[in-house]
Amino acid sequence: MRIFVTGASGWIGSAVVTELLEAGHDVLGLARSDASAGAIAAAGAEIRRGDLGNLDVLRAAATESDGVIHLAFRHDIAFAGEFDAAVASDLKAIEAFGDALGGTNKPLAIASGVASLKPGALATERDMGEPFAGPGGRVLNERAALALAERGVRSMSVRFAPTVHGDGDNGFIAMLVAADRAAGSAAYIDEGTNRWPAVHRSDAGRLVRLGIERAPAGSVLHAVGEEGVALRDVSQAIGRALDLPVTSITAEQGQAQFGFLAHFLASDMPASSALTRELLGWQPAGPGLIADLEEGHYFAVAAA
Ligand SMILES: NC(=O)c1ccc[n+]([C@@H]2O[C@H](COP(=O)([O-])OP(=O)(O)OC[C@H]3O[C@@H](n4cnc5c(N)ncnc54)[C@H](OP(=O)(O)O)[C@@H]3O)[C@@H](O)[C@H]2O)c1
Repeated sequence: MRIFVTGASGWIGSAVVTELLEAGHDVLGLARSDASAGAIAAAGAEIRRGDLGNLDVLRAAATESDGVIHLAFRHDIAFAGEFDAAVASDLKAIEAFGDALGGTNKPLAIASGVASLKPGALATERDMGEPFAGPGGRVLNERAALALAERGVRSMSVRFAPTVHGDGDNGFIAMLVAADRAAGSAAYIDEGTNRWPAVHRSDAGRLVRLGIERAPAGSVLHAVGEEGVALRDVSQAIGRALDLPVTSITAEQGQAQFGFLAHFLASDMPASSALTRELLGWQPAGPGLIADLEEGHYFAVAAA
């Protein structure tokens, strides 16, 4: 298949591109800059220049392709306090893909997350979450994508664990390592028994490929390799690697040490991928989060 991939130069997208090419697919990758275009071309994919806001470009590329994987997200503005604008831009892109793919039964995979789906309990693919201000705003985008199944699109949502970890990650775990290093202590909030699901980047990339190849319309897929890793265990691994004291802090102290990340670090959000594994025969094979931390690359990156 020829697959149009947005976010092809990103952390997950670059793994997806490699995975698709190795499986014999052709990839057309969206690039908004020379640097991104260079990275996508070096991976062996074709380039389509454009920004997520260029809806005509998105529609045309989707029409010319056998399927779309939409992974781009405007994290730059989201992290700068404009989360709602990033969510709105994401929805416009999903609607543009719906316009281009409606009635074709071509696949469309969009990115979502398992965080905040069912706080304090094991979230499954059947949990649809409740829209709320902040990260929950993406719940409505997922619903819009899944509803395209009724318009003849083989649409699916891939919900990623809050940490898609691996060598080169600059997401939440890398931010946690940097904040701990700056504070001189590896801190967890309260008891630290709250859990995060996790998935290795290579497993996430393979799941997206399997989904685009054969997930039925309206599927919800959980890119979750481990259901829940206790944050205290994560802090202990960071403390060992950086030779820092491992400490419990309050939520208020967490706000000072971690800023916006404190909310996530205090959350208990285990998630299952049992239904996804059953549906697609997907079996995560990469290292778990603690083993990945013990490989050391997070600490080399944080020191750079
Ligand atoms: N990583 C995780 O742990 C995680 C967890 C849950 C959900 N997700 C979701 O999964 C998706 C992929 O995440 P990621 O970690 O791979 O993100 P990432 O590394 O930040 O990559 C984002 C991608 O989007 C592209 N992009 C951003 N703004 C754009 C714009 N205005 N026009 C065109 N392209 C634009 C970036 O291009 P440039 O290379 O030009 O910047 C990059 O290719 C996102 O929707 C993310 O929210 C990720």
